[in-house]
Amino acid sequence: MNIAIDGPAGAGKSTIARLLAKELGLRYLDTGAMYRAVTLEALRKGLSLDDEEELVKMVTSMDLEIVFGDESEGNLLFLGDENITELIRQPEISSQVSTLSKHKKVRDLVSSLQKEIGKSGSIVMDGRDIGTVVMPYAEWKFFLEASVQERAKRRKKQLEEKGLKVDLAELEAQISERDFLDKTRKNSPLIKADGAIEIDTTSLGIEEVVHKLLGLIRED
Ligand code: CDP
Repeated sequence: MNIAIDGPAGAGKSTIARLLAKELGLRYLDTGAMYRAVTLEALRKGLSLDDEEELVKMVTSMDLEIVFGDESEGNLLFLGDENITELIRQPEISSQVSTLSKHKKVRDLVSSLQKEIGKSGSIVMDGRDIGTVVMPYAEWKFFLEASVQERAKRRKKQLEEKGLKVDLAELEAQISERDFLDKTRKNSPLIKADGAIEIDTTSLGIEEVVHKLLGLIRED
């Protein structure tokens, strides 16, 4: 069984996808983490996030490894021997990843890897183009939404749990900007896939959403 979960930042996709995978005994892939890892490497190498050709060269020679961790830790990402799982969540990466992810050739490289992983067995994947591009054949497609105010609040809480202080208004502006870039880019923009079930999670807790999705899947 393949499950595609798409939606904007902070809609709850990754936590929900991870819990759903655990309940159903499936693997889970966080596709956004891969774009974040590429952004981290590009910034470290001092590359311009607008230089598509240089970015493509870098991605082709990158030593990125994804480990399907247990359900509490989710995916672990390594650059060579270095565990970058936490580093890629930093606000500096969040604010720049959408500039990198707009490039067609970069997306083709990253998403072909994701497609291969999808083809290798049952999985829950979350991202922006899973139902449209990476796994258009998925049996289940969900599109999670929530108001930008609620999404900013959730992200602030997540960052604070990691000891990072952030201003709510600034975070809301950053998320809105990222939504805009992701939704308006030319190459595989964030849109609801044909046949996807849309769920507004603004007033729903994580457990409620997971329960709802499991209910739909199991009663089928
Ligand atoms: O966790 P959060 O919702 O903040 O974002 P993410 O899933 O880690 O994705 C980070 C960024 O990567 C997104 O804002 C998109 O620009 C890009 N992305 C994408 O283009 N396609 C995907 N399948 C997943 C992420």
